[in-house]
Amino acid sequence: MSIWRVQGGYPLEGSLTIQGAKNAVLPVLAATILTGCETELTNVPALRDVEASLDILRSLGCAADRRGDVVNIDSRDLTGCRIGRDLTGRMRSSIIFLGAVLARCGQARIAMPGGCELGPRPVDLHLAAMEALGAEVSVERDEIVCRADGLTGGPVRLDLPSVGATENAMIAACAAKGESVITGAAREPEIVELQGFLRALGADMEGAGTPVITVRGMRPVRRVGWRVMPDRIVAATVLCACACAGGDVELRGLDPAHVQSVSDQLAAMGARLDAGARWLRIRCQGRLRGGRTIVTEPYPGFPTDAQPLMMAASLKAAGQTVFEENIFEHRYRQAVQLARMGADIRLEGRRAVITGVERLYGTRVEAEDLRGGAALIIAGLGAEGQTDLLDRGHVARGYERFDRALNALGAHIEITD
Ligand code: UD1
Repeated sequence: MSIWRVQGGYPLEGSLTIQGAKNAVLPVLAATILTGCETELTNVPALRDVEASLDILRSLGCAADRRGDVVNIDSRDLTGCRIGRDLTGRMRSSIIFLGAVLARCGQARIAMPGGCELGPRPVDLHLAAMEALGAEVSVERDEIVCRADGLTGGPVRLDLPSVGATENAMIAACAAKGESVITGAAREPEIVELQGFLRALGADMEGAGTPVITVRGMRPVRRVGWRVMPDRIVAATVLCACACAGGDVELRGLDPAHVQSVSDQLAAMGARLDAGARWLRIRCQGRLRGGRTIVTEPYPGFPTDAQPLMMAASLKAAGQTVFEENIFEHRYRQAVQLARMGADIRLEGRRAVITGVERLYGTRVEAEDLRGGAALIIAGLGAEGQTDLLDRGHVARGYERFDRALNALGAHIEITD
């Protein structure tokens, strides 16, 4: 367990290059086993979920080494097709290995990922996608078992635009015979990134970023190099931190379009935003205005991952701000903790109504999930006095040396274990 000690009241100023994206690198790591080849990934963030993925790769017989932000994977000698509970328990998104292991080995056995802090996280769409590609799927004693004597291309219809199920379908379809057409696909930037990586691996694929993705198989290559895209949720976190604490921050290296739903809301609340080709600047002075209704939706709508962050940014905004969470069931866990800091939050099922307060006060709070933890750090930056955030490793799942990044912008954060 660690404690983030945040001294509030310091505006953020300066520039920051955004780290590589967790949600982009996880499916890319899984896809490295699709064919036996050597992969060099750069801009790989040092995160708990990335380390868990590397351990999964090693458990399957791959070589996986990290030097700084460079990760080398050699999947030529893959030996295993089973991922046990010890590993899936460490990373909830380990289901992302399903399509790749099945495609490479003709079978995959993956221990059920277990409960999720955001509410039930079913895998029915992942399994239906594998079935649509010709796999036999069963659940045996809490283990997902998929078998296929060669996958067959065909229509893969997703009833919901699930990010992970779209990624699994894209990866598995690369190894299928014939053409696969994935409809109802998620359109997140990380899907476009995965298509780019799969193409570099030799896949013939198009359509990522639209609801229809067509895959026509692949001609494997021996070596691939890939640079991981910047993390749009980390970018949203810094934008919201600046909105809460005040200041003037330039984010570098990102595509501003990837955070537009967040920056548009902040601009409507009174922040000043300017964007260029690979940068975004936010300036916040004085009190922001509430009055918005923020509804979480699949991309390009407002991301569920940014909802707790935006909630923290809205706590001191004048007037009422309403949130409507449509993606996950238990995504307001930060609300109780934020209320301990003086926030006025009313929960009504899927909705949360925030009435802006003039001040927040530092106190002892606890992170209950990754983005909820980040929201408490944001609130701490905008609060009076000291916030002690108890964190059982949630924040390190998605943020790399985040205390240093914020301190370089003028924050006063210390972490003790
Ligand atoms: C990914 C992101 C996560 C983000 C989420 C939504 C990664 C590693 N994680 O998670 O940060 O919050 O997208 O943008 O990329 N669902 C089903 N059946 C399924 C799969 C999903 O009903 O088989 C439902 C889920 O319960 C949820 C919704 O679909 O309500 C969206 O989930 P999904 O897009 O699959 O999220 P993840 O890929 O797990």
